[in-house]
Amino acid sequence: MKLVGLVGWRGMVGSVLMQRMQEEGDFAHIEPMFFSTSNTGGAAPAMAKNEKTLKDANDIDALKKCDIIITCQGGEYTTEIFPKLRAAGWNGYWIDAASSLRMDDDAIIVLDPVNLDVIKSGFSRGVKNYIGGNCTVSCMLMGLGGLFQHNLVDWMSSMTYQAASGGGAQHMRELLTQFGSIHAEVKALLDNPAAAILEIDRKVLSKQHSFAADEIKQFGAPLAGNLIPWIDKDLGNGVSKEEWKAGAETNKILGTGEAFGTAAIPVDGLCVRVGAMRCHSQALTIKLKRDVPLDEINDMIAQNNQWVKVVPNERAASMQYLTPAAVTGSLTIPVGRLRKMQMGGEYLSAFTVGDQLLWGAAEPLRRMLKILIA
Ligand code: HSE
Repeated sequence: MKLVGLVGWRGMVGSVLMQRMQEEGDFAHIEPMFFSTSNTGGAAPAMAKNEKTLKDANDIDALKKCDIIITCQGGEYTTEIFPKLRAAGWNGYWIDAASSLRMDDDAIIVLDPVNLDVIKSGFSRGVKNYIGGNCTVSCMLMGLGGLFQHNLVDWMSSMTYQAASGGGAQHMRELLTQFGSIHAEVKALLDNPAAAILEIDRKVLSKQHSFAADEIKQFGAPLAGNLIPWIDKDLGNGVSKEEWKAGAETNKILGTGEAFGTAAIPVDGLCVRVGAMRCHSQALTIKLKRDVPLDEINDMIAQNNQWVKVVPNERAASMQYLTPAAVTGSLTIPVGRLRKMQMGGEYLSAFTVGDQLLWGAAEPLRRMLKILIA
């Protein structure tokens, strides 16, 4: 059995990963070694077999014993430890949720239902680093993979509605705290059916404008009852890093673009943070290479993988199945609002939702581990 080092398993993404690995019985096929950055020598969780204590996640010699390391510890940890580990001669497989190594030439972005061929070609070249993709990109490709598979996408514009969880656990708490304090501000007026709505609205706005620094510490602006049209770093050219990832990572996952000797598929749009908890949603405008009938498009999308579900482009179905609240906690990726746009038969609209902690983070990693130990 392969010795698999698990780092960052207690954080939000790591906890979802542990839960999924337990649900799928993955621990039966590995010898786990649990690492910690803060509790070396403490008791490992119940899934431990021979290695019952926590090892030091900064101990290169301990890490070197592992055949495979899977980390959800974050980018700073990767940047600090990974080069030291390779410099120390470690030749194992590194599976990582963080973005630090994603675009490196010797790394593959893993999303096997969409790019198993790219992963396999990486194996045959001896690639050892397998990195999870950006959550928005992975969820989009799980939904729209069928169109790329049939080489139908000329370009795509992706306008996102990203949940608080993309920022981290503290961001989710901050969103809820903001909702709570706004509600507390107007509770008395809400309880009075005769209260004027414009008075309620004025008090809500006044609360949003007067949040204390620690109430907007994570997002830097109110998110409850609001939205923030910028995610991640400012690249200085009008593009946010999250927006840059859409094009760069989509092409790397699909094995298209300059690095693969083909033309890149343009994927671009604006990324927006909204007050959803853990599902990222995206409104897509897709320029098709040819005018394919909608029923064929539905079939291509639906048949791409077992998790995608086409939602009829109707009001009731969209409200029931195509929302963050409907999708949270599930591996299902609904794709709906599919219709040809006024611009012509080659212009397709779509809306998709995905749990950014599952397909957007943990699931591609545990599936990669399974591929490695098969
Ligand atoms: N960058 C994403 C977000 C999270 O902030 O929503 C994970 O890729």
